[in-house]
Amino acid sequence: MAGGILIAPSILSSDFSRLGEEIAAVDRAGADWIHLDVMDGHFVPNITFGPPVVAAVRGASKKFFDAHLMIAPADPYLEAFAKAGCDGITVHAEACTHLDRTLQAIRGLGCKPGVAINPATPETAIEYVLDRVDLVLVMTVNPGFGGQSFIPATLEKIRRLRALIGDRPIRLQVDGGVAPDTIGAIRQAGADTFVAGSAIYRGGTENHYRDNIEALRKHAEVNKA
Ligand code: DX5
Ligand code: ZN
Repeated sequence: MAGGILIAPSILSSDFSRLGEEIAAVDRAGADWIHLDVMDGHFVPNITFGPPVVAAVRGASKKFFDAHLMIAPADPYLEAFAKAGCDGITVHAEACTHLDRTLQAIRGLGCKPGVAINPATPETAIEYVLDRVDLVLVMTVNPGFGGQSFIPATLEKIRRLRALIGDRPIRLQVDGGVAPDTIGAIRQAGADTFVAGSAIYRGGTENHYRDNIEALRKHAEVNKA
């Protein structure tokens, strides 16, 4: 899955009363992936949606459905998210006692496994599962809410992970506070896959989404590593 820059709008910042249409709108506006933030009110202090909602909106876009599970435990729900139509399933290292087994289970369900780490978690926490994943997600805010400020200390972690990943075909994704004024430094540190919620859904119309996605791409490409 490694390669050029990918932009993944987080539907967390969309209008939930028109979720299917909001997904179709970012799809037409140039999104590469659709990022789905699943929160349980236990691992993170917020609750969003689960497999039935993913299944209901699956028809709104043919693009890669990138599920970010902020739930503990994750294992009992993996199959339901796979059946709902997720293409990638990312779990948090902090939420999985037997992380290696969980990542194998995701692949066994036919999905691309990803592993996420919170801002306070060192990159070494996932060093020994890198051969199990297609994606590493560095949280650049504390998960739970959209619209928070990017945490600069995560840039060094992105650089270290880029080195740890080496030439493995793994996407290095960032999530939280990604905006035109932060994406250049994040790209330079070595990330290739960018989640953005508020920076894409601001404005509320498809034309805004197109401009917002283009602005992110432009600022990422100018600062290419
Ligand atoms: C935070 C979520 C993010 C969030 C990003 O817990 O994982 O995907 O929606 O929102 P912004 O881009 O507004 O920081
Ligand atoms: Zn997310």
